[in-house]
Amino acid sequence: MHRPELLVAGNWKMNGLGADLVQIEAIKAGLGSACPVDVWIFPPATLIRPAAASAAGSPLKIGAQDCHTQHAGAYTGDLSAAMLKDAGASAVILGHSERRGGHCETSRIVRMKAAAALREGLGVIVCVGETKGERDAGLTAAVCKRQLGESLPDDSAPNNTIVAYEPVWAIGSGISPDPADITSMHKTLRSQLAAREPVNNGLDWRILYGGSAVPSNAEAIFGSPEVDGVLVGGASLNASSFLAIIAAATQSAARRKQ
Ligand code: PGA
Repeated sequence: MHRPELLVAGNWKMNGLGADLVQIEAIKAGLGSACPVDVWIFPPATLIRPAAASAAGSPLKIGAQDCHTQHAGAYTGDLSAAMLKDAGASAVILGHSERRGGHCETSRIVRMKAAAALREGLGVIVCVGETKGERDAGLTAAVCKRQLGESLPDDSAPNNTIVAYEPVWAIGSGISPDPADITSMHKTLRSQLAAREPVNNGLDWRILYGGSAVPSNAEAIFGSPEVDGVLVGGASLNASSFLAIIAAATQSAARRKQ
């Protein structure tokens, strides 16, 4: 059955100065002219334009980490999807737990931002995930399903929206769930997505895993057939660790085609 390509996405968060564009150059050099998996870097907004210029002509795509709900206007300090696209972004991460938590972003706001991004023709990666307390209380599936249901706009579809399952307790902690737990949550999310778009049993939707994905656990994570890619934070800041994760994805993609 046809499945979308694996995606390795790097979220630089609030890291990266002009000098760090050398990492983009090194990733580009490591990828060469063709890559069997999709690779995106989401640098801080200040680096989108030069990163996109640097990535031009390579398989590497550049994205943004957030956008506003509106196209333009009196919103001091904010950036619209149109501006990010104009700077060279082709996708935007929305609903990351650092924005849900640190900026009080509700799923309703995430949904409005996603709708704005889709209107501009940007792809979206919508993140969902439970806190440690919610997990301990047995609420993982309920929390993630509710976030997913409330965060996706009506016109989200497999060709414009990617979902990232990111347990909050796994982000930046060095701890990640068992691959079996990742598989189980991805199955839950996929059946919810399949109900929206009942084609191919939901397998057209890409569901990424994120949270302490590093070279040493990448093979195990990609070993889950439910995983369509990874959203990588810390390990994406350095080209060699990011390329090691891309190498694991490439091997997994080859195995899946056998
Ligand atoms: P991490 O971050 O890989 O550093 O845990 C992942 C994320 O926040 O997307």
